[in-house]
Amino acid sequence: MASPHDTSASRPRILVTRKLPERVQARLIRDYDARLNETDRQYGAEDIISGAKDCGGLLVTPTDRITAGLIKALPQSVRIIATFSVGYDHIDLEAAARRGIMVTHTPEVLTDATADIAMLLLLGAARGAHWGERMVREGRWGAWAPTHPLGLDVTGRRLGILGMGRIGQAVAARARAFGMRIHYHNRKRLARELEQGARYHEDFAAMLPHCDFLSINCASTEETRGLINGETIAALPPGAVIVNTARGDIVDDDALISALRSGHVAAAGLDVFNGEPDIDPRYRELENVFLLPHLGSATPDTREAMGMRAADNLDAFFAGRRPGDALT
Ligand code: DGY
Repeated sequence: MASPHDTSASRPRILVTRKLPERVQARLIRDYDARLNETDRQYGAEDIISGAKDCGGLLVTPTDRITAGLIKALPQSVRIIATFSVGYDHIDLEAAARRGIMVTHTPEVLTDATADIAMLLLLGAARGAHWGERMVREGRWGAWAPTHPLGLDVTGRRLGILGMGRIGQAVAARARAFGMRIHYHNRKRLARELEQGARYHEDFAAMLPHCDFLSINCASTEETRGLINGETIAALPPGAVIVNTARGDIVDDDALISALRSGHVAAAGLDVFNGEPDIDPRYRELENVFLLPHLGSATPDTREAMGMRAADNLDAFFAGRRPGDALT
């Protein structure tokens, strides 16, 4: 197998579906016969299938829907799909495995950036950063008053974390510094030194009554899709705050919106949505939701690290090694 640094015509050909950070693209051009997307136009399935002609690999992002149908229609030459993301719910892993296509992702490098956004949402939703900011911008800031407007304290409150992987743990570390008490649900209990006093709930439902705040940090899977629904929200203490930096489809929008309207959920901080960017328009009308446009990993350093990690995975694969972040 040709080395990825071989400058001869035998460099593997890859399709890169979105414009990536400059240094990442420079590396891809150096090491691959890379078909870049300089205009950053959003490709549809047909664009990906035709763009993949004679390619050994695809470098995709969460905005590409890599369905079983698309995978089936890919040229036989495609043997690896490297996603520029930690999440891989946009790729049908089973279909890829059936075709013998390797799939990789980019864990670790976006942990801190995403946990920072979770904390921003948690504090912002609790203290009304969004409505406060709008009051100032829109000239609606009246005289300071002792009784209004008011937000919620976080110090001493209980934070339940759904999904205690790397990002969940990084959220816990930040929340501890704000004096919050950590509860968590995860498929597996963490080692005691990683728990750092957090209380484990083997049963998600059993954790809910302990969540003054609930942070969603799990992957979107068959088990977690729609997990935050009417029933689970009802089990939260009245006035709870929900934060989602994972995936929109873990939340049932009807249930959350109705709980935000009734006040059972006092506030929510959301960075991810069902059908984003075409989110449920009712969220825009609610004063008690702090909304961000999927900014979890959105810093230059993090995005570059994600691209480099995806390139590392491609390099390993084309050098005949199993990539460190292999999913199939
Ligand atoms: C990911 O990597 O899955 C993120 O959602 C992108 O920020």
